[in-house]
Amino acid sequence: MNIVNLNDLSVQEINEIIDLAIEFKNGKKINYHGQKVIANLFFEPSSRTHYSFDMAAIKLNCHTQNFEASNSSLTKGESLYDTCKMFEMLGCDALVIRHPQDDYYKDLENVHIPILNAGDGKGNHPSQSLLDLMTIKEEFGHFENLKIAIVGDIKHSRVAHSNYDVMKRLGMDVMTSGPEDLKEEGYNYKPLDEIIGEVDILMLLRVQHERHGDNSNFSKDVYHHLYGLNETRYNRLKDNCIIMHPAPINRGVEIKDELVESEKSRIFTQMKNGVYVRMAMIHKVINDE
Ligand code: CP
Repeated sequence: MNIVNLNDLSVQEINEIIDLAIEFKNGKKINYHGQKVIANLFFEPSSRTHYSFDMAAIKLNCHTQNFEASNSSLTKGESLYDTCKMFEMLGCDALVIRHPQDDYYKDLENVHIPILNAGDGKGNHPSQSLLDLMTIKEEFGHFENLKIAIVGDIKHSRVAHSNYDVMKRLGMDVMTSGPEDLKEEGYNYKPLDEIIGEVDILMLLRVQHERHGDNSNFSKDVYHHLYGLNETRYNRLKDNCIIMHPAPINRGVEIKDELVESEKSRIFTQMKNGVYVRMAMIHKVINDE
């Protein structure tokens, strides 16, 4: 099986992955005794996703291969499909792929080993959504009726696109906010200062300059003033509200530097949870007959 878009998984399957990730965090061990090989193919830069998939495989006692696009036969014109078929023929047991093209995985239907989508263009980022959901479930114990505001460049964010759909399916009240020219058509949009005092989760996103050029109407200071988490907005958050961000963070833009590690922030917890979620994802796909 593949995990390329969470819309392909039932609510029960999503909860099973999250619950297994929480078991891993609590000490559960699964050991593949070096019998499985996971290939990490990143065609776009990544720190967290790449190295936490790698760490997840290591913790399951799988081997990994880490593809270096700039030093590969891609530079001689080899296609994504042929690159993936090569790893299948080498004997890899699963592919973790990040690629700038939306829905790239639709071109890989004839690859016969599991694919884990580590982010496709502005389309989806399923492992990020699952680690976000794990962090929320750890905090609140449930999803139903929790209010979340996802704030930032919604239109170009694969994190927003993955989370909006799955969080609604899980019964959450999902609102988006940020610059009006970066909102997503059809999504529930509210001005940040109208909703900041009523949300259980404030999820901040980076402006994805790399996906639409550096043509923002805002300087960093203006963005921070209009949409960033500053002390004034922090003090309006509910007592039990948590702050999330998929990172990388632009300190002083989406969030004031000093608030990144504030009491309400779960930003570094999200990174830690990413390893356990990716262990659960790898186990699910390589254990699926
Ligand atoms: N959150 C996230 O996807 O980070 P990286 O781009 O560093 O993997």
